Amino acid sequence: MSRKRTRENLELLKAAGYSGRVIELYGNKVNVGLIENPDVALAYTGPCGDTIKLYLKINKDKVIEDAKFQYLGCPASAACGSILTQIIKRKRLQEAKEITEDDVLKEMGGLPDVECHCAELAVTTLHKAISKYEEKEKKFS
Ligand code: FES
Repeated sequence: MSRKRTRENLELLKAAGYSGRVIELYGNKVNVGLIENPDVALAYTGPCGDTIKLYLKINKDKVIEDAKFQYLGCPASAACGSILTQIIKRKRLQEAKEITEDDVLKEMGGLPDVECHCAELAVTTLHKAISKYEEKEKKFS
């Protein structure tokens, strides 16, 4: 995408009521990408049809060392993925399990009302990824 096109898109997001923080995260693609050899990776598609795939690196003390994500969806889902991956880095799995969509929304300065479910997509993906990791750990312990 050209620089001019990107700037135009960011202007459209501003006009649509997105906060400066959301526009910044979306524009900079914070933590977008994948982790080679993650301890767990999980893709989840929400009821709206958008998908987030989350990659986590978890150390032996059950602390999330790294988190990245890929997405197929709206700008809000991308911003929620960015903020979520920022929030969970250096957190214990137990703490990460307690993160709610309200935590994500608060941290990002809110979303337009029609986009609030995008935070749910990111948080549900996190909770499912942690469950998958714990199931895997149980099998090998
Ligand atoms: Fe589906 Fe945003 S519209 S996650």
